[in-house]
Amino acid sequence: MASLAEPLAPFARLDHPAPLAAEARAAILANPGFGTHFSDHMVSIAWREGQGWHDATIGPRGPIALDPAAAVLHYAQEIFEGLKAYAQADGGIALFRPAANAARFNASARRLAMPELPEDMFVDAVKALVLADRGWLPGGEGASLYLRPFMIATEAFLGVRPAKEYRFLVIASPAGNYFKSGTPAVSIWVSDFTRAAPGGTGAAKCGGNYAASLVPQAEAVARGHDQVVFLDAAEHRWIEELGGMNVYFVFRDGRLVTPPLGGTILPGITRDSLLTLAREQGLTVSEERYALDQWRADAASGELVECFACGTAAVVTAIGRVAGHAGDFTIGSGGPGQITGMLKDRLVAIQRGLAPDTHGWVMKLD
Ligand code: PLP
Ligand code: COI
Repeated sequence: MASLAEPLAPFARLDHPAPLAAEARAAILANPGFGTHFSDHMVSIAWREGQGWHDATIGPRGPIALDPAAAVLHYAQEIFEGLKAYAQADGGIALFRPAANAARFNASARRLAMPELPEDMFVDAVKALVLADRGWLPGGEGASLYLRPFMIATEAFLGVRPAKEYRFLVIASPAGNYFKSGTPAVSIWVSDFTRAAPGGTGAAKCGGNYAASLVPQAEAVARGHDQVVFLDAAEHRWIEELGGMNVYFVFRDGRLVTPPLGGTILPGITRDSLLTLAREQGLTVSEERYALDQWRADAASGELVECFACGTAAVVTAIGRVAGHAGDFTIGSGGPGQITGMLKDRLVAIQRGLAPDTHGWVMKLD
């Protein structure tokens, strides 16, 4: 696989000959939704065995040509990341912990037998795109420019082995709230399906994990819920994570619990940031297993007072109701609680440059 010592290629820059007209862009930015609109440019970097990373370009966003035998189309050798650029209180623009996304991207690459990308090349690529398309950053509360770096196996070969050619790309999408606006707390469905098993790819951010989550997520939506929550594969008892976010439980005595990283859940950067922020607030936080039966019992007894989902797309979102084959239950008042709100405010204030960045998490781009 690629050595991290490979020299970085400079980006060849090709401006879009016809970027979207300012009025059309403004109409999109006024109501961006999530994941449906895209900025004018994209980054592309190629990798070939023996040559390493080459042909780094930032140019007009558009369709990419792939051989129909490209390995990604057959064996799903694909990984991705998700991070956001945030408008700052001082009028600038910043990324939140992009080096953590770069490190997780390489962890995913190792699990999927793909070449690693030097971390500074990942960050430079993201930065270059944000600066080229900074006019795509929506204003307003909760809005950001969502960045999607990803890597695909492009070699035309149908044998089952790691491909010898790849392409790394970054695209950007103006984003509002992930959940429909005005949702004070989401409702989640406990799936009978399993997301990840020990030894599998649960800790990697690979497209295949999400393909496998589509039927469970569609089932949750068909039953009137917003998200699916998965239990562990072995005992179908321990809460792992949601389809696209990690989960925290808040107890009456102010204790917080989140499921431990053990190879079957995604090591969320928001989850990790909240571990630090909650401890700074004097809260006791532990990473420990928590069972569905206990969740139901604690919600009924009032021992559990709040619960929330967290992730780049979801930020911090209260979970108000839980439903499954064994029945439904409500958490606390069914709406967002105090600690959930406090942690969300702390995190968002740092991301937006409204509170001091004492952990070196914010990378200002201008
Ligand atoms: N879990 C899953 C399955 C996810 O897709 C995500 C989102 O990236 C997360 C957790 C949260 O991770 P992060 O906080 O790094 O966005
Ligand atoms: C993210 O938060 O970046 C994700 O990848 C999760 C998905 C729900 C968009």
